[in-house]
Amino acid sequence: MEISIYKETGQLFYALAEYIQKSAEKAMARRNQFNFVLAGGNSPKKLYKLLASEDFRNKINWDKTFFFFGDERFVPENHSQRNSKMAKENLLNPLKIPRSRIYEVDTSGTPEEAAGQYMKTISGHFRNKPVRFDCILLGLGKDAHTASLFPGSPVLEETEATVRPVFLKGKIPRITMTFPLISQARQIVFLVFGREKADAVLHVLENNTETSGTAFPARLISGDKNVKWFLDREAASKL
Ligand code: 6PG
Repeated sequence: MEISIYKETGQLFYALAEYIQKSAEKAMARRNQFNFVLAGGNSPKKLYKLLASEDFRNKINWDKTFFFFGDERFVPENHSQRNSKMAKENLLNPLKIPRSRIYEVDTSGTPEEAAGQYMKTISGHFRNKPVRFDCILLGLGKDAHTASLFPGSPVLEETEATVRPVFLKGKIPRITMTFPLISQARQIVFLVFGREKADAVLHVLENNTETSGTAFPARLISGDKNVKWFLDREAASKL
C-alpha cells in the first residue's frame, strides 16, 4: 500500500490522472487493452473532466480502453442517480467512447439478475479467465464504505470474486463488485478528499488491529500491496 497526500485538490486530480495514464500505458504494452473500473459518487467528477480535457485526451489510448463500474444504483438507464450517467456526462461522452466499450449494469430485470448478468458480461470480456482489471478507481464514504460495500453488510463476507446485489434499508438497491473481485485487480486507487472524510480515512488506514473491517469496510482491502491512496491534506489530517 502506498499513500500520497496533496496540498490542493487540483494537484491531487492531476497526479491521479497521470497515474491512470501510466497504468493504461503499462496495460496496453503488455496486453494491448486497458480495463478500467470507474467509481461513482461525486468525488471523481473533476477527475473525469480532466481525463477528457485537452491535457489528457491525447495521452491515453482511449480506443483500447474498456470501461466498467465498481458499483451501480438499481435504477433505469440514464436515471440521474446512475453512476454511469455521471461518467458519461463527464468522461465517456466528451471522449466519444462507443457503447461497445462501456460495460454498464443492465437493470431491466431484478437486482439479482442484474448482478449475475453483469458478472457474466465481465467474464465474457475476460474470455472466462480469472478477472483482473488493470485499474479500479474507488471512493470512500464518510462511513468508510467503498463501492457499495457498506458497514455490517453480509456482502462483506462474500468470498467469491463476483458481483452481488446489495439491499439497503429504505434506499435504492445497488449492485456491487465484491472485495475478492476488487482485490484481484492489478491496481486499486482510492480518491479521497475533504475534511468530512478525515475520520473514515483514519479508521481505514490506522494501524490498530482492533479496528474492525466490518465496521469500516474499505479496511478490508486498504493495506493490500496493489492499493494506492490519493488523499488531500484535509482527508489525511487525522492520520
Ligand atoms: C457510489 C460509490 C461510493 C462512493 C462513496 C463516496 O456509487 O456512491 O461508488 O462508494 O465512492 O460513497 O462518494 P462521494 O465521492 O460522493 O463522497
